[in-house]
Amino acid sequence: MEHPLEDGWTLPASWYSSEVVHRLELERIFARSWQYVGRLDQLPETGSFFSSQVAHVPVVVVRDGSGELRGFVNVCRHRGHLVAEGEGCRATLQCPYHAWTYGLDGTLLKAPRSEREPDFDPDAFALLPVSVTTWGPFVFANPDPGAPPFALLLDGVREAVEGSGLDLDALVFRRRVEWEAPVNWKNAVENYLECYHCAVAHPGLAKVVDVDPDMYAVVARPLSTSQFADVRPGVREGTARAPYRPRDGIESAQYHHLWPSTTIDIEAGRPNVSMDVWLPAGPGRTTGYSDYFFAPDVADEEMEEIIAFSQQVGMEDQSLVESVQAGLDSGAVPQGRLFGESERLIGHFQRRIHAALTSPA
Ligand code: FES
Ligand SMILES: [Fe+2]
Repeated sequence: MEHPLEDGWTLPASWYSSEVVHRLELERIFARSWQYVGRLDQLPETGSFFSSQVAHVPVVVVRDGSGELRGFVNVCRHRGHLVAEGEGCRATLQCPYHAWTYGLDGTLLKAPRSEREPDFDPDAFALLPVSVTTWGPFVFANPDPGAPPFALLLDGVREAVEGSGLDLDALVFRRRVEWEAPVNWKNAVENYLECYHCAVAHPGLAKVVDVDPDMYAVVARPLSTSQFADVRPGVREGTARAPYRPRDGIESAQYHHLWPSTTIDIEAGRPNVSMDVWLPAGPGRTTGYSDYFFAPDVADEEMEEIIAFSQQVGMEDQSLVESVQAGLDSGAVPQGRLFGESERLIGHFQRRIHAALTSPA
């Protein structure tokens, strides 16, 4: 890298389209990181399961016979077919290809014709375990079975979210919105990590929340970042014009990023949260989804207003990052320049990426 990150330079533009960097990120970052994968309400009883992905790794989360949550790599130990699909409730997990059948604890219970293979040891072919945990109604997984505690990611974020007035355990899932963008995942996440662009690119958002740098607080922690925005005076009362008028409930907006690619958005107004996942589907493609949760008494109309507000911001962001991707792909500007104050969280994120990809494996 010609110019060091420490002096305010960005990661090289080439890192946003390189297949080699993409493969390294999957291996060095995503294969050993926590990510939001689904909801506790999908796992009400013994045998309940849902399939999901931690970046490129298919996972399945089940509630086992003792009521504990367990996670497995959702790849058959036979020849790799995905074992579970969608969600539901089953006594065992059976692969649809040749019917290898696994218990809720992952052990291989049955493999048709295995009795004809005298040296086959079923105990050696259990589903591979992954780490699983929950926070309120949210389920997180990490492909690394020896993952560091999830609590390390929540340090500071938990206090902010719980301090917002949200009753996490009472939240009800209402909608998933899926999306994809022809951009590198780092480009998409970096756009999320600064509101320097908000006054210019998000006129609707900027009318509701105060995006002035003196009013907009950002916090960087080792494995998370947070952004806090107050509602502009008069908006809540309806005396100032805005596209969205936050009603009773959450006083101010919060936007949290959990390393590497889960984000948590709380808009001001009726109790709401969206859990967002950004998946690197290739060097130049990001897929993702937003799971929207609300307090049970939030009316449909109030819910739609919040979702529309957040989707509008998302569409504006998509057009920004697509343009940035075209610029990065050109290679004409090999390294950009970050502003240490306004883009502090991007600098933090990029130093972490750099360390993960360049430190000894
Ligand atoms: S790949 Fe699963 S049973 Fe053959
Ligand atoms: Fe934005």
